[in-house]
Amino acid sequence: MSDTAAIPSSASSRLIPPSVAPTARTTSTSDATSFTGGKYYCSYNQVHNLCQQAAKRIREDKFQPDIILAVAGGGLIPARMLRTHLKVPIRTVSLELYDDRTNKAGSCVRTTQWIDREEICNKRVLIVDEVDDSRTTLAFCVSQVRQMSPSQLGVFVVHNKQKVKKCNSHWKSVGFQENCDCSSNGNNSDHQSTSIDYYRSGEDLSDRWIVYPWDSTDIDTHTKCAEQVTVTH
Ligand code: G4P
Ligand code: MG
Repeated sequence: MSDTAAIPSSASSRLIPPSVAPTARTTSTSDATSFTGGKYYCSYNQVHNLCQQAAKRIREDKFQPDIILAVAGGGLIPARMLRTHLKVPIRTVSLELYDDRTNKAGSCVRTTQWIDREEICNKRVLIVDEVDDSRTTLAFCVSQVRQMSPSQLGVFVVHNKQKVKKCNSHWKSVGFQENCDCSSNGNNSDHQSTSIDYYRSGEDLSDRWIVYPWDSTDIDTHTKCAEQVTVTH
């Protein structure tokens, strides 16, 4: 997918670094990411630290994956960062939600790259993605992987947006019990097909657009934006 292909129109400015670094806004103490101009700027270092901390927690929680399943493209770099600590192989799948021609959300998820059943069957699998947003793509990925009979299935995301999710799956995030928009989507069978054994996010954020470093065309300005954090108590 190209840089611009999957961008919803409301968020298309994520590729445009601000010409002048914006003034730091106040943000919560639990938020290690800079909040600027209504968006969260997140640097490579911040993603790295969130992955490193998460790896420690994953080990403490005794979830021991046999493989990391990276969801391309946003999950690729976090998966590689996690592998340094979890020391298990990475496999990759690729899914698309947005319609490339209109830059709007598509009605269904497209699978553009998938994995052989033998890679999943009877394995402990940790799906890794950068963000749990609407959960549409992630839940689709979970349901497809679940059909391949993993012995355990976990999900790690760098960021979880605290919002109503568009799937009938109650994934528990540490410190946050999310709401689930079960009335408009999903039913009991959906719930089963998207059930997971383990869920962890690096950080829970309010529902704002997150600007990741790999989307930046000016990484130095991006990093400065990401480092402008004002902590309030
Ligand atoms: P979800 O299941 O992981 O919650 O994703 P959802 O289908 O809601 O989102 C569709 C696409 O929008 C995904 O990209 C997701 O990564 C991206 N997205 C959602 N919120 C944000 C955000 O705040 N910042 C950025 N940068 N991306 C966001 P995708 O189709 O998988 O593309 P990509 O991962 O190759 O970029
Ligand atoms: Mg993604």
